Order: sequence, then C-alpha cells, then structure tokens
Amino acid sequence: MDHVAAPTTAPEIETLTDRREALEDIGQNCSTNPTMGDIINRRFSRRSFMAGSLAVAAISTTVSPLAILTAEDARANGRLSGFDFTEIEAGVDETHHVAEGYDANILLRWGDKLFADSPDFDPLNQTAAAQEKLFGYNNDYVGFIPLEGNPDHGLLVVNHEYTNAEIMFPKFTSIVKETKDGKEVEKVQLGEYTKELVDIEMAAHGGTIVEIRKVDGKWQPVLDGKYNRRITAKTEMQLSGPVAGHERVKTPSDPTGKQVFGTINNCAGGVTAWGTYLMSEENFNGYFGGEIAEDHPEFKQLKRLGAPGGSYEWSKFYDRFDVSKEPTEANRFGWIVEVDVMDPNSVPKKRTATGRYKHEGCESIVNKDGRVVLYSGDDERFDYVYKFVTKAAFNPNDRAANMDILDEGTLYVAKFDADGTVEWMPLIHGEGPLTEANGFASQADVLINTRLASDALGATKMDRPEDIQPNAKTGKVYVMLTNNTKRKDDQIDAANPRAKNAFGHIVEITETDGDYTSTKSKWDVLLKCGDPSVAEVGASFSTATTKNGWFGMPDNCAIDADGRLWVATDGNNEKDTGRTDGIWAVDTEGDARGTSKLFFRVPVGAEMCGPSFNPTSDTFFVAVQHPGDAGLATFENPATRWPDFKGDMPVRPAVIAITKQGGGKIG
Ligand code: FEO
Ligand code: CA
Ligand code: CA
Repeated sequence: MDHVAAPTTAPEIETLTDRREALEDIGQNCSTNPTMGDIINRRFSRRSFMAGSLAVAAISTTVSPLAILTAEDARANGRLSGFDFTEIEAGVDETHHVAEGYDANILLRWGDKLFADSPDFDPLNQTAAAQEKLFGYNNDYVGFIPLEGNPDHGLLVVNHEYTNAEIMFPKFTSIVKETKDGKEVEKVQLGEYTKELVDIEMAAHGGTIVEIRKVDGKWQPVLDGKYNRRITAKTEMQLSGPVAGHERVKTPSDPTGKQVFGTINNCAGGVTAWGTYLMSEENFNGYFGGEIAEDHPEFKQLKRLGAPGGSYEWSKFYDRFDVSKEPTEANRFGWIVEVDVMDPNSVPKKRTATGRYKHEGCESIVNKDGRVVLYSGDDERFDYVYKFVTKAAFNPNDRAANMDILDEGTLYVAKFDADGTVEWMPLIHGEGPLTEANGFASQADVLINTRLASDALGATKMDRPEDIQPNAKTGKVYVMLTNNTKRKDDQIDAANPRAKNAFGHIVEITETDGDYTSTKSKWDVLLKCGDPSVAEVGASFSTATTKNGWFGMPDNCAIDADGRLWVATDGNNEKDTGRTDGIWAVDTEGDARGTSKLFFRVPVGAEMCGPSFNPTSDTFFVAVQHPGDAGLATFENPATRWPDFKGDMPVRPAVIAITKQGGGKIG
C-alpha cells in the first residue's frame, strides 16, 4: 500500500467502530469448508489463458501491473467507460462531493421530523418518545416504492442500522489510555448507561417509512403522509413461516413463539415486486449480553453466531437481551423482516423460511416462471452466500396474493467450485447430512441453525458477503465481498497474491439461461479491489481506470434502469486508501468491463450506504452513515460537523437525493 502512516510516538487511536469491526473480524466459522480464496486460487492457477484484467492481477508480485492513468490516457487507449459523468477527485475532507452537473441535496438527517406532530430535534435533551417521531440514526439501506407508479412521488424506506453512542449523546464520553499488545492506545470511553439512554438507542434503531415528493425539481418529505411510520427495536412483529410457534422461539413473555418485539441491526435490505419493504437483521448478536453454559442446547448455534456479543448494554435493563435469563430470545433475531408499507398499522413479519444468519441485505427478482428469488449474504469473515426461491409465483394482478409468498420455498447456500461452477445446495430437513442424528430434527432446526446446516453441506467460506444484487437486464448477479484480513498466507498462491484480503472483491454469478432459480450456475471475478498501482495488492481494475477510479471494500450496490452497476464502499480512509468511501460506477460489459469511476464521496469518517434509484433512474438516493466517526470522535468533537457545519449541532447521518441539473438519467 502506498498510504502508510508515518511512524509516530503518539498513542494509537481506536474508535468504537474499530472495536465493533474487530468483533466481526474474528469470524465464527470453524468448519473445514474451503474458503473462497482457496477456490479462486485453484480456479485461476489452472487456467492456461486469462483474458483481460484478471490476467493483469496474476502476472507478478514485483512489477507494478498497472500504471495509474490520467483520464486522457484512458480515452486514448480506447477503453472508455460506459458512464458519461466527469469523475471527481478521490480524497478526504469534511464534506460530500458529487460529479459536476449534479445536485446532491440532503433529504433527511438524524432527528428530522417525519410527522406533522413531530417535536423539534433537541440533541441536548433527547428522549425516546421524541426519537420515535424523528428520523433514526445510521441510515443504511434506502429503497423507493413509487405511489401509483409515479417516479417522482413515493415512499422512502430507510434502515437505521445501529447507534454510535459516543457521537450521539452529549457529555457521555471520556478519553482514556490503555496498553494493548505492548502499545499505548487512546480511546473513547462511554459513560454509565441509564435505561433512558438505552431506550433512546432502541428508538433510534429500526426503520423509517416516509412519503416523499419531488417539488420544483427538489425532493422533500411529506410530513402529513398517511403511510409515514417509524419501526424501532420495540415494534410488535410476528414470526411467520416454518419456525413460528416452535419450542425454540418460545420465551417467558411469549409462550406462543409467534410474537416478537423489534428488529435490530438492519443493514441493507430490499423492496419486493409487490411493494413491500424487506429489512435484514445483521449483527444482532451484539445486542445480547449475559452468559450461556456450554452444555446448554442453544450454546453451539449461538456461539457460531457470536452471541452474546456484548456490544450494547441493553441486557442490563431488558432481560430478553440477557441470554442467561432468556436464552431463546436471540433465536427470534437474525431474520429478514417484511413490512407492508401500505398499512402503517400492519404487523411486520419475520420470514423464517429465508434462514437465520447475519443478513446483510435481501434483494429480490421475479424469475421468468414467476417465482421470486431473494439473494442474501451472511456478513462475516468465512461465511456464506444464500438464495431463497419461493414455492409460489408472484401474481402481478393481485397484491394480496403475494403477501405471504416468502413463507414457503427453498433456501440454498452456495458452493463455488474451481471449474467456474456455483452449486446452489438446498437446506432441506432430512436431505444429506441435515438429519435428526446430526442435530436437525425439523426444518425449524435447519432454519434456526442455518450456519451449522450450511457448514454440514460444505458451503464455500467467503470473504464477508455483503450486498448481493441480481441484474434483470443481464441475468447476472453481483456479490460484494468486502474484505477478509484473516485469510492466511497458506491459503494463497502466486496466481492470486492477496495475503490478507484487505480490499475485497466482487464476484459475478451468471445464472444458467437467465433462470435465477438455477441450482448450477457459473461464476467469475469481476474485480479484485484496491490500488492497482501497487503490485502487491493484486487489484484488477481495467487499464482505463484512473487514480480516482479504484476503490477498496465494496459493500452495497445498485443496478440502474439501464442495467449498470454502481458500488458503494465501507472502510476507505486516509490511512489505508487515501480516500473516503463513496460511489463508483463500474462497467461490467464489453471492452470497458472492469473500468470504475468515482461519482460521489462522503465526508470524513462516514460509510457509504443505501444506493437506490427511482424507477426512471433520474434520482439516486444515497445514505451517509456514521459521518465524523474518525479518530477520537465524540458528540462534542466529531471529525466533522457535516451536514450542518454549526457548532451547536452534532454530526448527523443523512440521506441524500442526487439529481442531474436540468433533469435526465444519472450517469
Ligand atoms: Fe452492516 Fe455488512 O455491514
Ligand atoms: Ca453494509
Ligand atoms: Ca443493493
């Protein structure tokens, strides 16, 4: 890497986000299944001829394979991007940047009003009751559901993944020094939690559904919209599908095993063809505290999920988040939640047929035979890629007929073979190793223990599967693999010189004959990410990619109305990549394949989330998550005051609507 921090005697800094990510970094998969790195190595070391950019990455570890080009060079070599916008400069500063000729307007910030009777945001005097009527924290997934087919008027659905107490609550932190691995480390220490603070955190989680409308070219929320709704970590929900009512999801407060309160750590998500909102439950393990005995029947599967993770203090005030007291409550999280946005009083349903793991997202597509295929990644080092195929077909003429089709179908986990085949293996009770003798007495056991079932089937261990996006125009599916720094030296070879996959890669799946229900498909690597001018990184961007155009750590993505891929990142920073996170437009077809251009970037400390287009792709909704969370960031001293730049306002996560000046399609 060319961005190496200068030696210093000052203490190192560890942010709370560093600590949360270190937990994810452990990886809970102790199975002997091969990793995706093993498979890529085997596959590409066997190829006698490698076309295009993949060959470049495999040439050498000592000679820089790609000189960094200027945009003029890129044009001169004839590999022009399929995107017309003028690329912005990569870098790090306190604000956001968008390509020239586009407007990036803040649509909603943490604390903004969502209802006609919402109180004013008062960050110095926060309450749970106020937060329940205001836009939540750390906006991640953003989706748009048009009303009456109008691309300029619809419902914005937004996940609020987690809370950063250190930059959310005033007067709640101190800076402490400690020794770690022989080095002095400075970090932010949180104060003593009260139930009131936990309740604010619970109210700031979940999701927002809010009517929005374009007025005189500018998007704005409609505060008296009849569909407006906040979902929180306390909202009543229902468990539905094969697990509902099972003994293992009954708790002292819910003997039915069907009623559950709240959804948490909703990372990416999706919108279905019938206009419902899907919220993924990702790192739910972190909200559980307490201890569970090693001989407890739930111990093994909870350990495989990293529960209890102890990242929050909710268990001090709520017994259900303490596994010593209510060991089955955690079995009611880790699902995909479906919300009927057209009824603000509807009870969201946790669709257990789709499996329980750390769902990053849940993007779906209607297959040519009408069945619905939903893709989801399990975001942890060495975990798996999944798809779910409904039993029933989508009915385009009867919305009500689709409302429970996610309750029945087949869940598959992916095995990526070295010959370029991906095998989708069904997780069905009684088939193969998924028997009572192996601890799977029913389909409910298979689904509650999805990770253990996939281990038993020999699924491929991936480098942290994030968003997975089917492309209706091409029959292809894009899998964001964000990084895996725990990949060992003995898992690589000369053909794939990525000891510790710090920058991630993108896998492209081609479903056979455009049939998304295929059980045997093909796969390839679209991009290995990182700085292509540093040979050791082994990145594989096309030679038309400029010094601004490469990126690390792909996380979320979106496909526009023309079937083009846009990638959002999580983890770029001044030290590791010399740039903040952002959105890069990536060519996937033709000569320009593997070319990437920087379209938008976030302020310092932030992660880029939520990219979604409206149906005409003339608006691009993007989410800026945890801005200012860099260094020793606190409420009083964030790394930026974005987006308000006022001394009396805390830094605020926000959703932005990007439009082209004068109108027209993005990009
Ligand atoms: Fe919430 Fe996979 O990041
Ligand atoms: Ca993510
Ligand atoms: Ca997506």
